[in-house]
Amino acid sequence: MDPDDHVCLCFRVSLRKLNTFLECEKPRVASQLSDCFGAGTGCHWCVPFLNQLHRQWQDGQAPNLNESPEDYAARRKIYRDEKK
Ligand code: FES
Repeated sequence: MDPDDHVCLCFRVSLRKLNTFLECEKPRVASQLSDCFGAGTGCHWCVPFLNQLHRQWQDGQAPNLNESPEDYAARRKIYRDEKK
């Protein structure tokens, strides 16, 4: 993903916003990423990815997702369709 790609599609929270939040707020648990523009509090699709980003950050890595935004959005659509 590029920095301006959205990790939380419900609330249009980009990877850049999440990385800035991690650096500034230093959340102790991944669920605190919800304080970053509500990330993860909509359909919950992105929660495992928020957990992954938080884990990478805790491990001293540059948080990123090895996903194309198109594939990511397509998988989220399937997820949401299955919940209907
Ligand atoms: S994509 Fe983040 S809550 Fe729906």
